[in-house]
Amino acid sequence: MLEQRLSRRYWHLIGHRTELLADNDFLRLNWADGEIVLFNDHGNIVAFDNLCPHRGTRFFVDAHGNHPAHCAYHGWRFEHGTVHIPQPQRFAPCDLAKAKLNEFRVEWCADFMFIGVEPIMSLSEQLGETEQVLEEISFNIAGRHDFNQYEFECNWRIALENALEPYHIDMVHPNSLGTLRLEDGENEFHGVNSIWRAPVGNSRVDKQLRAMNRLFNIDYRYEGYQSLYIFPFAMLSSTYGYSYSLQNFFPSTNPERTHFTSRLLTAPVIPERLATAQSFFDSTAQVNRKVFDEDHQICKRIPTRALETHLTLADNEAKVRHFRESLAAISGR
Ligand code: FES
Ligand SMILES: [Fe+2]
Repeated sequence: MLEQRLSRRYWHLIGHRTELLADNDFLRLNWADGEIVLFNDHGNIVAFDNLCPHRGTRFFVDAHGNHPAHCAYHGWRFEHGTVHIPQPQRFAPCDLAKAKLNEFRVEWCADFMFIGVEPIMSLSEQLGETEQVLEEISFNIAGRHDFNQYEFECNWRIALENALEPYHIDMVHPNSLGTLRLEDGENEFHGVNSIWRAPVGNSRVDKQLRAMNRLFNIDYRYEGYQSLYIFPFAMLSSTYGYSYSLQNFFPSTNPERTHFTSRLLTAPVIPERLATAQSFFDSTAQVNRKVFDEDHQICKRIPTRALETHLTLADNEAKVRHFRESLAAISGR
């Protein structure tokens, strides 16, 4: 199955180091294979399926927070890379060496975290030239400001294709993203990944955004709107590099659902400007939530079977075509 192939054979952009700075910080996401937990184990970031190796109780129930990996059922706990078992003498006939977490592989692109199951290539190969852009962005992120997680009532490909094209912006986002009046801009294709960069066409808004630069301490930014598609399930988009919206569109076992998570990652702020920057981030987070809700409302009108039957694409849907070609190549392999 395509979804399984994509999940197992590719690396997945899953978070940023600044989201897991303290011991016991965790994040939890869903995908078709169950759950993915990212956890700070005394400075070492691990990723696993959230299941206790004893009898499979889920360690974490919240989407994010700070909590030790202690199982609420019989008290097994994971710490310093080891599973600690109370009363181990009770397990005499068992091989306790096998009682381990089911961990994912972890790779880093600078401070961006990727997980893998059995990836068929190195992370560098998979990212191609997007690697360098991601590295630059990574060093210009200081933390997370918003975390937004819910189910989209549509297939993951419909949600992702929507995120890949600006053709719908005026119709679906007239009072949110549409107010930037983004120009056509340019697409870049790097292997299975792609980048869209577009100038802000609303000169009044563009001027305001430029002026915000005095709040931040950043050495990399694109002057305008930039959206990276990191194959297969992640998007990273930003206006002027002041904050980045990291979105995951993970497949669900239900083909009519998508496990959606978006986070607002924010640039380092000049300390004296903190209060102004916080209210700027608040309003950015609010607008982003509105944009995703608008996207969700339109996506849930599209039945999954339309992916096979409705194939006409405009020139500003070129990234959708590229995405479909990548999937076709993988399905044919
Ligand atoms: S299931 Fe976790 S300790 Fe028993
Ligand atoms: Fe949209």
